Amino acid sequence: MFVKNLLPALVAIGSVAAQSTCTVSTTTVNSQAEATKLASCRTVKGTVVIGSESGASIDISGPKEITGDLRVLDNGVMQDFSSTSLTTIGGSFQMKNVSSLASVQFSSLTSVKTLEWVSVSRLATLKLGPLTKADEVIISDTFLNTLDSINLKTTKKFNINNNGQLTKFSTQLESLEDDLNIQANGIDLEVDLPNLVWIANMAIANVTKFSVPSLEVVNGSARFDSNYFASFSAPNLTHTEEGDISFVGNGALNNMTFPKLTAIAGGLLIANNTGLGQVTFFPKLETVGGAVKLRGNFTEVDFPKLENVKGAFDVSSTADIKKSCEKLLKYAPKTQNGNGKILGTFTCTANNAKANEDTNDTTSGSGNVDTNGDEKSAAGAGVTFPAALLGLVAVAAFASAL
Ligand SMILES: *[C@@H]1O[C@H](CO)[C@@H](O)[C@H](O)[C@H]1NC(C)=O
Ligand SMILES: *[C@@H]1O[C@H](CO)[C@@H](O)[C@H](O)[C@H]1NC(C)=O
Ligand SMILES: *[C@@H]1O[C@H](CO)[C@@H](O)[C@H](O)[C@H]1NC(C)=O
Ligand SMILES: *[C@@H]1O[C@H](CO)[C@@H](O)[C@H](O)[C@H]1NC(C)=O
Ligand SMILES: *[C@@H]1O[C@H](CO)[C@@H](O)[C@H](O)[C@H]1NC(C)=O
Ligand SMILES: *[C@@H]1O[C@H](CO)[C@@H](O)[C@H](O)[C@H]1NC(C)=O
Ligand SMILES: *[C@@H]1O[C@H](CO)[C@@H](O)[C@H](O)[C@H]1NC(C)=O
Ligand SMILES: *[C@@H]1O[C@H](CO)[C@@H](O)[C@H](O)[C@H]1NC(C)=O
Repeated sequence: MFVKNLLPALVAIGSVAAQSTCTVSTTTVNSQAEATKLASCRTVKGTVVIGSESGASIDISGPKEITGDLRVLDNGVMQDFSSTSLTTIGGSFQMKNVSSLASVQFSSLTSVKTLEWVSVSRLATLKLGPLTKADEVIISDTFLNTLDSINLKTTKKFNINNNGQLTKFSTQLESLEDDLNIQANGIDLEVDLPNLVWIANMAIANVTKFSVPSLEVVNGSARFDSNYFASFSAPNLTHTEEGDISFVGNGALNNMTFPKLTAIAGGLLIANNTGLGQVTFFPKLETVGGAVKLRGNFTEVDFPKLENVKGAFDVSSTADIKKSCEKLLKYAPKTQNGNGKILGTFTCTANNAKANEDTNDTTSGSGNVDTNGDEKSAAGAGVTFPAALLGLVAVAAFASAL
């Protein structure tokens, strides 16, 4: 039923309704007739909930703004949801478990606080303003094959997962303040972030193409797991400010380029990317604040400009990398007769048939993780990705090597 307090509000505003504000704390719309009652409100002050027996089609044209949330939960009947007028949702545009919904057309919607669509598994048609302002976007388990209606320049969180039809995600995003998560979408998914300059954290999995031509800074960590791309390039990336860089289980990967990367504040993990023949793509890398751990089928490893690795340096390959091991040994800690550029334990093993089985974040010879009162560990603890462990363990390795 329509919440009672809406009715007096409507009565009170009378015929000047289209210019008016209707105050509802939460109103539930259970039919098109009830949706039409909102048509005379310019602003709906409060939250609008579409009830689970709404009928197949709901059009909430009329209002330009809903100050609270717009929610549809556990609704198996709605097929079309639309509004030609709504531009702004002050709270969350939330749809969860809306199993028959095929079309969402909010042709004027440009701004929401958060957009959270989860288990809207038939949703195939989407038209928004396009959406240009949102702090957080979660799109999970839909039938969408494009997200062109979402075109943000910046946001805090963007999570796109389990959208099996999604084959292209191309956006003007310039910066992202918190986390970008992309995983388990269509297996042909191509991700293009042509304008992205800095990003706090990203975790990218199951993607077939990934492009970040403008990326300069990763403030936190970047993690790439189980992707299908053959090459990865970060032509403008100079450093990470706090976190790790990790590539694990990207079986097709055979070429990587990081021509400008000079510093990784956390650790570097490259493991079980079995197509990768060499790890020689860090021509300028000087400092690593955590550990370096490499596992794979590569025949050559080279870090020509290495100056300082705070943690362990741990390399193992299925192939014969003895020559590379000998070359890298010069950077080993003084206790291992090197020049001390690597502060943690240096390990390098060739012809290890099981090299690819060890993909975790810990490095061998690192001892216990001890974060007590350690500045570096405290900084790393703010990073949410598991690979942050690499930084923590590295500090322990450093400590035990002293
Ligand atoms: C999803 O919504 C349907 C109604 O359409 C309900 O019967 C079902 O229990 C809901 N599922 C979950 C997991 O909440
Ligand atoms: C990330 O780094 C860039 C470049 O240094 C900086 O402008 C931006 O404010 C940083 N963002 C966050 C969230 O720290
Ligand atoms: C998708 O990536 C995850 C890692 O995040 C992995 O566990 C999973 O096996 C991958 N799925 C496929 C189909 O490759
Ligand atoms: C890469 O960085 C350089 C120098 O900052 C800049 O001139 C160039 O436009 C950047 N390239 C891209 C594709 O953003
Ligand atoms: C290594 O990666 C392959 C995919 O390329 C995956 O099937 C396998 O499970 C991974 N092994 C480990 C130990 O993670
Ligand atoms: C690797 O990629 C870079 C740039 O993306 C390209 O210039 C280079 O030729 C590639 N190398 C191989 C061996 O494919
Ligand atoms: C990587 O090495 C493992 C173990 O020797 C081997 O089984 C696998 O075929 C190799 N993969 C490639 C692509 O060389
Ligand atoms: C991680 O790697 C270390 C060192 O190789 C090993 O001792 C440990 O058992 C591994 N942990 C897991 C969860 O695989």
